[in-house]
Amino acid sequence: MPRQLIGIYPGSFDPLTNGHLDLIDRGSRLVDDLIVAILRNTQKEPLFSVEERTAMIRESTRQWGNVEVDSFDGLLIDYAARRNANTILRGIRAVSDYESELQMALINRRLRPETETIFLMASEENSFISSRMVKEIITLGGDVSSFVPPAVLSRLRTKVPN
Ligand code: PNS
Repeated sequence: MPRQLIGIYPGSFDPLTNGHLDLIDRGSRLVDDLIVAILRNTQKEPLFSVEERTAMIRESTRQWGNVEVDSFDGLLIDYAARRNANTILRGIRAVSDYESELQMALINRRLRPETETIFLMASEENSFISSRMVKEIITLGGDVSSFVPPAVLSRLRTKVPN
């Protein structure tokens, strides 16, 4: 019997962007089950709580039957082992992403060689979007409606009224 491919797409998702959604769409076709995993133990002060981020991602990924949303603490690789995941999915937008992603992938491979990191290149129309920029733009009164899904936009508007 062919092996089941279980993928984890980890990240902060503060908030989810159309770039993330594109990756979820394409990633969900590569694996049998895709777990979107929100990091819990971040040092940074997030705009949205993990519960809010979970709700927004669930709402935005309803159309994919094989996508699950979860959160994790501690090492990604330990979480991957707990979930029997054989792949980690990450997106690369520009060369600037490459160095830190390479470092993370190599560390994760050393810690758990049986989990392979798969990189997907961001699609052209999303390659410049980041959660950090979305937060900056909305805080300064700009329009982010083409950068994030509707479930995120409505919550951003209540969180950062302008
Ligand atoms: O969306 P982000 O902030 O780029 O995601 C980074 C994330 C969550 C994938 C990364 O920080 C992570 O895996 N953190 C968990 C801690 C860990 O496993 N560290 C060792 C690998 S470098």
